[in-house]
Amino acid sequence: MLSKKIVDRVNLQINREIYSAYLYMAMSAKAAEAGYQGVASWLMVQFHEEMFHAMKFYYYLLDQGARPELAKIDAPETKGSTIKEWFTHVLEHEKFVTASIRELLELALAEKDYATENLLRWYVDEQVEEEKNATEILQQLELVGEGKQGAFLLNIELGKRTLTVQSDFSGGILPTSAG
Ligand code: FEO
Repeated sequence: MLSKKIVDRVNLQINREIYSAYLYMAMSAKAAEAGYQGVASWLMVQFHEEMFHAMKFYYYLLDQGARPELAKIDAPETKGSTIKEWFTHVLEHEKFVTASIRELLELALAEKDYATENLLRWYVDEQVEEEKNATEILQQLELVGEGKQGAFLLNIELGKRTLTVQSDFSGGILPTSAG
């Protein structure tokens, strides 16, 4: 049984994860519009990653006999018009999500809610990966250079990213889903 505080905070996190999906979808549209199909594809894979994060929390609440309360999702605020600006924004946003997960973990620890703590350890690891991905792309951009040729090459590279998370949630979260 989860406390109301935990349920409310998990619901806020669901909102933030879906906002993240929404943000990356909006960024994907901007990248596609600018002709960066590879970047657009990378960001759409990220959209699915974020929906997976949200749905993992959603089913956790249901499994615990609590109700996911879905609130309004804010309109996403995209920034910039270059690959460097986009991924700087991705990194900045992921740092915000990391801080949000940490805050939730601290609440679970304060409440001695070990089941939620266990779940959140997965998200802590996931956030390391999320920040690392954005950092590495910014480093790659430094290596190839920010000019048109560098952007062209990186666009091709980023377009190779494939979806590895579950994207059909009709049967709940599959035990084999890596995230
Ligand atoms: Fe769900 Fe990118 O953090």
